Amino acid sequence: MKNTVIVTGGLGYIGSHTVVELLNANYDVVVADNLSNSSEKVIDGIHKITGKTIEFINLDIRDYFKLESLLGFYQLSTVGVIHFAACKSVGESMKEPSKYYDNNVTGTNNLLKAMKRYKADNLVFSSSCTVYGQADDLPVTEQTPQKPAESVYGRTKQICEQMIKDFHAEYNYNSVLLRYFNPIGAHESALIGELPNGTPDNLLPYVAQTASGKRELFTVFGDDYNTEDGTCVRDYLHVVDLAKAHVVAMEKSTEKNLKAEPINLGTGKGYSVKQVLEAFETENNIKVNTHYGNRRKGDVEAIYADPSYAFEILGWTTKYELKDMVKSVWKWELNLQNKTCSKNTCKCQK
Ligand code: NAD
Ligand code: WQD
Repeated sequence: MKNTVIVTGGLGYIGSHTVVELLNANYDVVVADNLSNSSEKVIDGIHKITGKTIEFINLDIRDYFKLESLLGFYQLSTVGVIHFAACKSVGESMKEPSKYYDNNVTGTNNLLKAMKRYKADNLVFSSSCTVYGQADDLPVTEQTPQKPAESVYGRTKQICEQMIKDFHAEYNYNSVLLRYFNPIGAHESALIGELPNGTPDNLLPYVAQTASGKRELFTVFGDDYNTEDGTCVRDYLHVVDLAKAHVVAMEKSTEKNLKAEPINLGTGKGYSVKQVLEAFETENNIKVNTHYGNRRKGDVEAIYADPSYAFEILGWTTKYELKDMVKSVWKWELNLQNKTCSKNTCKCQK
């Protein structure tokens, strides 16, 4: 029986949590990752959580021949491919567009070609709510018209979605396009989590690093938006809920013969930056040194998902609430700080 799942970018933030859920569901996992934004130490965390081992191949998906050999080697046992490997910094993508087109678009094209060559069925693709831009109507459904994405990063996701759709003309496979809203949090063991590279762009890593003393001041980007408290609204979902969605999406994709099926993954609830900050402070009983600053260029005012299609087609729904998410973020941050400096209040720059 085919039981192997190939996971590109499987040592990254969402990938590592998904690998844990795949192992818990008794799949054999092969991770292909070039470690550009992760570390081999993540393998230890996965092993400690699950008691199981994975195959790890240090591979860059832009290297077509290596990628093709990998798919060829596992041809007879592959049940699905989950494709996380990509660069994901919105800001960096505006400064280095070629890096993003190369890694995200060329990498995905290579994967599709190699899958076709070895008739690997079933692709689960990491897309993003960024493909919607600032939607006119909320909540966002899969039918909400897509605006041109604000960033190069967002445009690479729109292009990859289109490539995956177009590939169906020359190759019969199943595929799903998972449009994540804002994943946050970490595994409850705090053995795996998000490893921000340098200064974090994203809200929760910045808040947690400020709380721990690694950053001096957290800036709220704008409090003059047309929202209840003036700060931006997003749909934050727990990374473990998100990871579980990948396992079920891979299975339902074959069962329901899905072809480039877009699926929103979110909770359906919007929280403002201020609400998230307050939840973090209350649940963890810690104060975050905060300043209210200017808007960040390119931020949309408010976005949250209508996740009803994910429930209808996958039977998937989120279990964790905001309080669970912010608690797990802090537990992970403390764990990271302990590893580095052996004290929770360290001010070192890792
Ligand atoms: P991440 O950076 O933590 O993980 C990506 C992994 O891919 C890393 O381990 C990195 O080393 C690897 N990688 C990158 N380029 C590679 C290449 N050319 N060859 C092999 N490995 C490569 O990011 P993440 O947050 O886990 O995101 C995973 C996916 O989900 C990405 O495609 C991202 O665009 C998408 N996504 C992320 C978010 C988010 O907020 N984190 C939201 C929506 C979509
Ligand atoms: C959330 C909110 C900020 C940092 C990005 C990508 C998107 C997707 C998810 C991959 C916003 C505010 C943040 C800070 C702040 N990724 N904020 N101070 O921008 O919604 O989405 O990650 O696909 O494509 O664009 O996430 O975490 O950066 O910001 O006030 O220091 O927090 O303005 O309202 P975003 P984020």
